[in-house]
Amino acid sequence: MSTSNKKNNKYQIAIVPGDGIGQEVMEATLSVLEGLDLDFDYVFGEAGDECLEKNGVALPEETLDIIRNADACLFGAAGETASSVIVKIRQEMKMFANLRPVKSYPNTKSLSDNIDFMIVRENTEGMYIADEEEYTPEGAIARRIITREAEERIIRYAFEYAKENNKSKVTAVHKANVLKKTDGLFKEIFYEVAKEYPEIETEDFYVDATAMYLITNPQNFEVIVTTNLFGDILSDEGAGIVGGLGLLPSANIGLDAALFEPVHGSAPDIAGEKKANPTAMLLSAVMMLRYLNENEAADKLDKAILKILSEGKTLTGDLGGSANTFEMAEAIKKEMIGDI
Ligand code: NAI
Ligand code: MG
Repeated sequence: MSTSNKKNNKYQIAIVPGDGIGQEVMEATLSVLEGLDLDFDYVFGEAGDECLEKNGVALPEETLDIIRNADACLFGAAGETASSVIVKIRQEMKMFANLRPVKSYPNTKSLSDNIDFMIVRENTEGMYIADEEEYTPEGAIARRIITREAEERIIRYAFEYAKENNKSKVTAVHKANVLKKTDGLFKEIFYEVAKEYPEIETEDFYVDATAMYLITNPQNFEVIVTTNLFGDILSDEGAGIVGGLGLLPSANIGLDAALFEPVHGSAPDIAGEKKANPTAMLLSAVMMLRYLNENEAADKLDKAILKILSEGKTLTGDLGGSANTFEMAEAIKKEMIGDI
């Protein structure tokens, strides 16, 4: 995914637990990471609703500095302040690539087996610039920006990801039949960049058709590259087809900063009850380990998570089990240590 950008002989990791179950799944994950033979120096940062209440600001400058100075950041979840926290971090740190793997695991409510694809979402422009004009009597207008530079960067990232991870196909998703200029450009750049990767198969679909194919033939997909809003929507659909938010990790990658977070939010309905599934946060830590080029550690943790899911004995309530967050994490840690 990237070369290690280790700054000392120790990794400095920014830890931002945030709100609600973000705090619980982070605590559980840090306990599991203790079981790896790696030297992590954690620097904790505050952000989110609780931080706003306490400090009058949801994302303090100090937290941004902590993330900026770290080799990588683990982020839990924010609550109502999510858009001013996570969207702002992505923009401030120029984290242009949002990676959201969609994978079916055993003992989950996945629609079918053998689903395994990566959504590579452009993270800096498109509709998410949220450039909306003031209301007029006629209504309201939002601008959608597609630049050559940002789209070429994300498309190249998707092909490089495919190459590094032995994927044979990249699918571009757009709506170029209607948005002829913006998505027309996206599609054109896709096939331009594709010429540099003759060994990788290509195809492109309209976003509405893709929404259907994800249900009817999810095994068709290996790597999907798409613009900001489409990537956001398709990745939640991805969460739905593989059985829920408790399982989906994600990465936000920039040239010199990276943040790893579960796709889920702070889940106020179960917060504080130790009911949260720690898997999404743990799989986010696996993605972080791969980003740091600690592939052996990543494999160990990944394998232990798969084993505990396959055994089906120590699962949280969302997966039909009766274990709490920390019991499930502990089972994964034990499995992982046993593996060393
Ligand atoms: P949510 O992801 O927090 O929860 C949706 C549903 O999934 C809830 O029923 C929840 O209990 C369940 N769920 C989520 N994660 C789970 C886990 N690990 N284990 C078991 N069940 C889990 O999304 P919702 O309810 O739309 O938003 C709640 C708050 O989170 C809002 O304030 C929202 O702004 C914020 N949010 C933050 C995000 C972030 O920090 N990146 C992303 C999405 C929402
Ligand atoms: Mg979303």
